[in-house]
Amino acid sequence: MAGFHTLQDEAGRSVRLSDVGASLVSVQVPDRAGTPGEVILGLDAPDDYLDNPHYLGATVGRCAGRIRRGRFHLEGQDHQLPLNFGDHHLHGGPEGFSHRPWETAGPVEGPDGIPEITFTLHSPDGDQGYPGAVDVAVTYRLEPGGRLRILFRGRADAPTHLSLTNHAYFNLAGRGDVKEHRLRLGASQVLLLDHDAIPTGEAVAVTGGPMDFTWARPLFQELPAYDHCFVLDGWDGSLREAARVEEPETGRTLTVLTTFPGVQLYTPEFEEGTKGRGGDYLGREGFCLEAQFLPDSPNHPHFPPTRLDPGEMWEQETVYLFGVA
Ligand code: GLA
Repeated sequence: MAGFHTLQDEAGRSVRLSDVGASLVSVQVPDRAGTPGEVILGLDAPDDYLDNPHYLGATVGRCAGRIRRGRFHLEGQDHQLPLNFGDHHLHGGPEGFSHRPWETAGPVEGPDGIPEITFTLHSPDGDQGYPGAVDVAVTYRLEPGGRLRILFRGRADAPTHLSLTNHAYFNLAGRGDVKEHRLRLGASQVLLLDHDAIPTGEAVAVTGGPMDFTWARPLFQELPAYDHCFVLDGWDGSLREAARVEEPETGRTLTVLTTFPGVQLYTPEFEEGTKGRGGDYLGREGFCLEAQFLPDSPNHPHFPPTRLDPGEMWEQETVYLFGVA
């Protein structure tokens, strides 16, 4: 049975989660005037997450992003994954982690007495074409000061690839066009894409162009839409600031910190009939900042590795820090 779970803090912030896809359903945080409001796109009912084509708030896996022709080579073997994005594999396949019920534990008191909820999933050998069984866990923790910490962990019983992400869509004003949001990214390079939107393996400088968010500027100033992976500067696997967003009307801010090496900026144009909380989403009502490994990593040995071997603990972390300016 699908269900929602809640974390709250004493300042009136609240976070709602779904065990389907270990998804982030809702985050309510105060605006400049102290009035709490929604900042995440979501769906109304727990069962709605079983049919979530836009991956609203979901944990995406085994591998986030596209894998060229659904193929990779590992330990002397070729692996063929299902193709669910034209000729390519996307977001772990048609039956990826994002649409399945996960086991739930919590809320329990974690370190420093902070309540946390952990979702776990067992993915058997051969699941969506991937080799080896993996066990993954995603922990959400609402820390004081508006800090939502997401811890990702994984183990495998044979060599495989693992590359989870959280696929939250943000709208710091709650609803409406997100075009007034100002974005700054800690990335001076972006991955070059081919005509199928698959990385060629090359990264190019953003300097001065429509991909240059090294200084805070409105979304969509020069391009109608983004679906690009930015390469974070100075990546060393430690938790570092990757992005900062400000919404001038409400004064709400979001800072994204992560251990991942990239951020996929995705700004969809929702079409009529896109199911959303309390009514359909339409147009540019939200955007994603998916902190993740670089797409198609299994086919680019010079990208930070997504390979996971038995005996290793795969651990990554992303923090959404909500504030006001
Ligand atoms: C990622 C991909 C997009 C799209 C969305 C989900 O951002 O890069 O192309 O698949 O997820 O719809």
